[in-house]
Amino acid sequence: MTSKKDKIRIFDTTLRDGEQTPGVSLTPEEKMEIAVKLDELGVDVIEAGFPIVSKGELEATKLIMKQGLKSKVCGLARAEQKDIDAALECEVPYVHVFIATSEIHMKHKLRMNKTQVLEATSKWVDYTKQHGVIVEFSPEDATRTEPSFLRKVLKAAEDAGADIINVPDTVGTATPEKIYEVISQSVSTVKIPISVHCHNDFGLAVANSLAGVRAGALQAHVTINGLGERAGNASLEEFVLSLHFLENKKTNIDTQLIYEISRLVSRLTGVMVQPNKAIVGENAFGHESGIHTHGMLKSHLTYEPIKPEIVGRKTWFQAGKHAGGHGLAAKLAEDGLRPTKDQMKEITRRVKDIGDKGKAVTDADLFAIAKAVVGGVSGEKKIIDLENLTVVTGTAMVPTSSVKILIDGKEYIASETGVGPVDAALKAIYRIVKPLANVRLKEYRLEATTGGSDALAEVLIKVEDPDGNIVSARAARTDVVTASVEAMIEGINKTLIKRRKKISTNKK
Ligand code: KIV
Ligand code: ZN
Repeated sequence: MTSKKDKIRIFDTTLRDGEQTPGVSLTPEEKMEIAVKLDELGVDVIEAGFPIVSKGELEATKLIMKQGLKSKVCGLARAEQKDIDAALECEVPYVHVFIATSEIHMKHKLRMNKTQVLEATSKWVDYTKQHGVIVEFSPEDATRTEPSFLRKVLKAAEDAGADIINVPDTVGTATPEKIYEVISQSVSTVKIPISVHCHNDFGLAVANSLAGVRAGALQAHVTINGLGERAGNASLEEFVLSLHFLENKKTNIDTQLIYEISRLVSRLTGVMVQPNKAIVGENAFGHESGIHTHGMLKSHLTYEPIKPEIVGRKTWFQAGKHAGGHGLAAKLAEDGLRPTKDQMKEITRRVKDIGDKGKAVTDADLFAIAKAVVGGVSGEKKIIDLENLTVVTGTAMVPTSSVKILIDGKEYIASETGVGPVDAALKAIYRIVKPLANVRLKEYRLEATTGGSDALAEVLIKVEDPDGNIVSARAARTDVVTASVEAMIEGINKTLIKRRKKISTNKK
C-alpha cells in the first residue's frame, strides 16, 4: 500500500474537501484541469470528488478517471450502499469510506448507537472491498471520539478488509500533542497504514499533520492553498516543504510545480491566496527592509529559509520606506538602470518620502522615479532650481500659484493665476525665466503609474526654445502639480545647459 517506506504519501483532497470551501464550485472540466496538474505534481492519491453529491461530481470523477493519470483516483462515499455504488460507477480503483464515530456526531447527526456504527463499518468496508478496489476508511471526528471506541472501529475496519485508515481531526480542535497521541494509538491498534487528515480551525492543520507523521502516520490528506471546509485543510505546499526541510522526510512531490498549481487553483476556484501565506503567498519570497535586502544580496541564506526556485518562484525586492540603497540599486540593475551613487541617494530619498506618506511604492513607481533622477540634471550643474511652490485652488476661486526659484543661486519670486493649479504654477515659472530662457511647452503628458488616487504621477514634457531646440524632461511625484513644476524646471535646465555649452564652444 505505501510507496517506499521512507516516503510519506500525499493524498490530495483539493477536489473534494477543498471544493467544499464555502462558495467554491468547479465544473467537471476545471476539476480535470486541476487533476492533471496534481498528477504532474506527483501526488499519490487524488480524491476526485464525492460522486453521490451531484451529477456533475459523478461526471467529473469519471472524466478524471479517463485521463489515465499515474496518481490513484479516489471517490468519497459515506458508509452507505448508494454512495459506494456511485463511487464504483466511476470505475475508480480507490474508494474512501467514512462514518462518524464521536458521541456528538453519532447522537445528533447519525442517530446511531455505537453497535450500529461498528456494524456499518464492517458491512460497508467489506462491501466495497468485495468490488476489488483499494479501501481507505475514515472514522469521522476521530479526535473527539472516545479512545476505546475508536480502537474498536479501527479494528472492525481492518478486519473487514480496509487497506488504510485515515484519522480525521474533523473540526480542527486537536493540538499537535493530541494528534500525536491519537495517531500513536491508532498505529498500535492496527497493522495497516495510518493516514492523518487535519482541519485548520485553530491554524494548526500543518503542525498537527507533522505531529501525525512523527507519531507514525505514513500518509496525510492535504489541499492546495489549504482550501477546505471553514478555515480549510492542511495545505499541501506548507506540509510538503516542512516535511522535506524541517523533518528530513521525502515525498513524491515535484516541488518546482507548487507555485504554478497554487496559481491555477486560485484562478479556477476564485479563492485568493493571502499575501503573507507561507510558500505560495505573494510576499513569501519578497524583501523590503534595507537590512534584509543588503543581507540577501550577500547570501540568500541570511533571510530565506529555502531557495524560492525550489517551489518555482523567485526572490524579489520591494521598494518602500524600509528599503535601502542596495536593494533598490539591485532592483534597478535587473532592468539595466545603473544610477550613480548620488543619483541612488536621491532615488532612495524620494522612495522613502513616498513610503512615509503611507503609500506602497510599486516597481513602476520606482522606475519612474529612477528615470526622472537619472535623466535629470544633477545638483551642482543645475542653473535653476525650485525653492518653494504654493498653489491654492478650489471651485469658488481662480487657481493661484506662488513660486520661488533660484537662478544661479539668486532668488526670484512670482505669482500667477491659471485655468488650473498646474497652469497657474507653470505660468509663474515662465514669468520668472522668460528673460533668461524663453521656452514654450510643446508637449505635456501625465501618467499615473498605479491605479489609486494616491498614485505616483509621472509627468513627461517637451519644451522648445525660440531656435526650435526641443528637450524632453520628466518628473515623478505623488503630487501632480509638483511633478509638473519639477519636469518644467528640468526642461528649462536642460535648455539652458545646452545653450551655455554652445556659447562656450563658439567662443573657443
Ligand atoms: O474532515 C473530515 O472528517 C472529512 C471526512 C470525510 C474524512 O473530510
Ligand atoms: Zn475533512
